[in-house]
Amino acid sequence: MPLEIDIITIFPRMLDGVLGESILKRAQEAGLAKIRCVNLRDFATGVHLTTDDRPYGGGPGMVMKPEPVFKAVDHLRRPESKVLLMTPQGEPFKQATAAALAREKHLIIICGHYEGVDERIRTALVDQEISIGDYVLTNGVIAAAIVTDAVVRLLPGALGGEGAADDESFSDGRLEYPQYTRPPVYRGMGIPEILTSGNHAEIAKWRLEQSQARTRQRRPDLQA
Ligand code: ADE
Repeated sequence: MPLEIDIITIFPRMLDGVLGESILKRAQEAGLAKIRCVNLRDFATGVHLTTDDRPYGGGPGMVMKPEPVFKAVDHLRRPESKVLLMTPQGEPFKQATAAALAREKHLIIICGHYEGVDERIRTALVDQEISIGDYVLTNGVIAAAIVTDAVVRLLPGALGGEGAADDESFSDGRLEYPQYTRPPVYRGMGIPEILTSGNHAEIAKWRLEQSQARTRQRRPDLQA
C-alpha cells in the first residue's frame, strides 16, 4: 500500500515543482507514495472564500479560521490517518521523525499561514506539530514539502541504490564521512589513498573515524 499524503494549503501550486520532479515524482509513479495537494479554499464558504480572520483580543496579523480546516480534515480523515500541523511551535523535525512518519499509512499535513492558526485546530484536530527549524517561514507549505521529501525518500524502493539511505548523515546519529569520485586528481587535489586500496575493512574504519571527527567538530550536539 502506498503512503498517502494529503497536504492542505491555500497555495497548492507552490508544491507542483517539488512533487513533480526527481525522487518524489518517481516514488509516486512507482506507486510507493500518493501525494495530493488539497486547496483549503475548496472548503471555505461565503462570497470571498476567506480562510483567515482577525485575532480575538486584537493585535497584528491574521489567524487561520477553524471552519475550513475542520471541514477539510473531516473530508480526508480515516481511522488510520495522522494529522500534522506545520508550525514553528512544533517539535523539531529530525531524521528519526521522518523515519517514524514513513511507517504511517496516511498523513494529513495542515500548512499554517498568517500569524497562526485558531487554537481549536491544534487541540481538536492535530496529532503532531512539527517545526523544521528555529526560523519563521511565510507559510507552512515549504515546511510540508521538506517533511514530505524527507519521508518519501525513506520508503522502501524510493532511492535507486539499495541501502543508500543507511549510510548517510543522521541515519546513525552522525554526519557522513567525506566522499570522492573520479577523477583521481582534480586541479592538483588528490584523494585519500586508502579509498583505492581495495581493503574494505580499512576503508570502513577510516570512514567511521572521519564520520566521528566531523560530527564532533561540526555538530557536538550529536553524540559522535
Ligand atoms: N511555518 C512557518 N515557519 C515554520 C517552521 N519553521 N516550521 C514549520 N512550519 C512553519
